Amino acid sequence: MTDTLTPVLTANWDQPDSFTLAGYSRTGGYKALPKALAMEPDDVIATVKNSVLRGRGGAGFPTGMKWSFIPQNDGKPHYLTVNADESEPGTCKDIPLMMANPHVLIEGIIITCYAIRASHAFIYVRGEVLHVIRRLQYAVAQAYEAGYLGKDILGTGFDLDLVVHAGAGAYICGEETALLTSLEGYRGLPRNRPPFPAVEGLYASPTVINNVESISSVPSIIANGPTWFSGLGTEKSKGYGIFSLSGHVKHPGQYEAPLGITLRELIDLAGGMLRPGHPLKFWTPGGSSTPLLTREHLDIPLDFEGVGAAGSMLGTRALQLFDTTTCVLRAALRWTEFYQHESCGKCTPCREGTYWLVRAVERLESGKGSDEDLETILDVGNNIVGRAFCALGDAAPVPISSAIKYFRDEIIQHQKHGGCPFDPAASTAWAV
Ligand SMILES: Cc1cc2nc3c(=O)[nH]c(=O)nc-3n(C[C@H](O)[C@H](O)[C@H](O)COP(=O)(O)O)c2cc1C
Ligand code: SF4
Repeated sequence: MTDTLTPVLTANWDQPDSFTLAGYSRTGGYKALPKALAMEPDDVIATVKNSVLRGRGGAGFPTGMKWSFIPQNDGKPHYLTVNADESEPGTCKDIPLMMANPHVLIEGIIITCYAIRASHAFIYVRGEVLHVIRRLQYAVAQAYEAGYLGKDILGTGFDLDLVVHAGAGAYICGEETALLTSLEGYRGLPRNRPPFPAVEGLYASPTVINNVESISSVPSIIANGPTWFSGLGTEKSKGYGIFSLSGHVKHPGQYEAPLGITLRELIDLAGGMLRPGHPLKFWTPGGSSTPLLTREHLDIPLDFEGVGAAGSMLGTRALQLFDTTTCVLRAALRWTEFYQHESCGKCTPCREGTYWLVRAVERLESGKGSDEDLETILDVGNNIVGRAFCALGDAAPVPISSAIKYFRDEIIQHQKHGGCPFDPAASTAWAV
């Protein structure tokens, strides 16, 4: 068993009161805040820049650099919007984080707003998770009562109001510009860029949008220093992150470790694969928008560069593991249906392309497909990627195109058998 876990955000999740102000404060919470408020705002930004924290919402953009794009002395209000929409299939880290430790997010929000000179912040949380919304509201109320939010925070003259806003359950509202449109009260459709949100975001004012885990990492960086954070991880992917293991593994859950840990190590920490005799067949490194990988990738470093070099993306570190009992075509069909359902319809390549992708994958899965369908799928995919208005379109063909890349033979077998040829009892035959 390896022992490479570095619990920071998850350190106190086993405490029964971890979600309360008392529980958070007892375990070192709200200690970074006075330290940050005693610094110049620009020094807080420099500290986060020097830590080399990269956004934990998928794309990995440097967080401190994003903050530094906010124009100063522009006379406009500035906003922070925390992206808590978490709807990517497989992604399940922000919701448990907000359930178990909402105050670390709130402390991160206060520090971030101070740094970017914002006096209004929002947490845009997906509407289905009512229990999380309630917990956030309770934590925000406690923070107001303790003087961490509101007027003249800790006697420094800094004011901040924080609003918990529930979305209505659309995946597209996790895309940052659609999120802002939705927060303004309109239908959640993506916007053109430029102008970028840092210049014209919420209510046409400079806005920072960051993921829950990105902002929650800030208190630990302020408390322990940027060198502590950048001392973890790999050369270009610094720090720790939450790796969410789900699927055919003995102990699914959240494993907080330095970036660069391998899936083999994580499976080891999670007690191994679920069913003896059924090894890993394929997996997603970071949700369904990241190309599938296989057993041959068990030892790649799970950092931005390592996963990129293997032909996929680190994404949200949502590691969904599928053993040899799983039909890859059926899994790809489910994901493709998801993208069709969630396409907002604003642009033609994605709206029409996802419809045709589902039709072709359905034909293949039911055994009524042909070689032509395979080519159609790849062609439709090529015509969506790079031509769609936002990254949802780019992601839509990813599950099926990566399934074809690694499992073309298995997919062709469906046609020969007139349906799924897959016999779970004999499934080791399909092991990669
Ligand atoms: C369709 C779609 C859904 C997204 N959903 C989320 C989400 O739920 N949470 C999130 O943090 N980022 C999501 N993103 C990425 C955001 O657009 C944005 O890059 C991110 O919130 C930036 O935060 P970070 O720099 O801290 O990673 C999504 C992007 C797309 C295209
Ligand atoms: S790519 Fe899809 S989700 Fe994005 S704007 Fe176009 S139709 Fe909407």
